[in-house]
Amino acid sequence: MVAVVLVGHGSRLPYNREVVEKIAEYVEEMGDFETVEVGFMEFSKPSIPEAVRRAAESGADKIVVVPVFLAHGVHTKRDIPRMLGLEPDWEEDEGGDEGHHHDHGHDHDHDHDHHGHDHRDHEPVEVDAEIIYTEPIGADRRIAEIILDRIEEALKEE
Ligand code: NI
Repeated sequence: MVAVVLVGHGSRLPYNREVVEKIAEYVEEMGDFETVEVGFMEFSKPSIPEAVRRAAESGADKIVVVPVFLAHGVHTKRDIPRMLGLEPDWEEDEGGDEGHHHDHGHDHDHDHDHHGHDHRDHEPVEVDAEIIYTEPIGADRRIAEIILDRIEEALKEE
């Protein structure tokens, strides 16, 4: 059985979680998967390892993890693969960063604090299922359609 985990960035405000949860509902309706979980890189709960554990507990032998990010970045290339126990696709190669053992001090391409992390969430998840990690959303004409809708809606409201 295949389970799906959608991964959002997470936020101190609820909107990112709400949007990712709604997208997960659509994936559940439109796809053919019994289990669709959501997990968040930071701030929001559940964490990515927690979501993967839940997917594994559903009895899945394959867990497809989809980053609900527009483009690749440090999280999708490094942080999320690490949490999944996969080989990161990107590492800093400039000196002196070898010693940051998931210590909440990993640098970020934007401004974050890292309070409220469960330390367990920084250890690679261990489950008895194959983890398959997909590409992010990327450039797609269907995204342009959504943008055109938003433009039209905003112009109507003027
Ligand atoms: Ni971030």
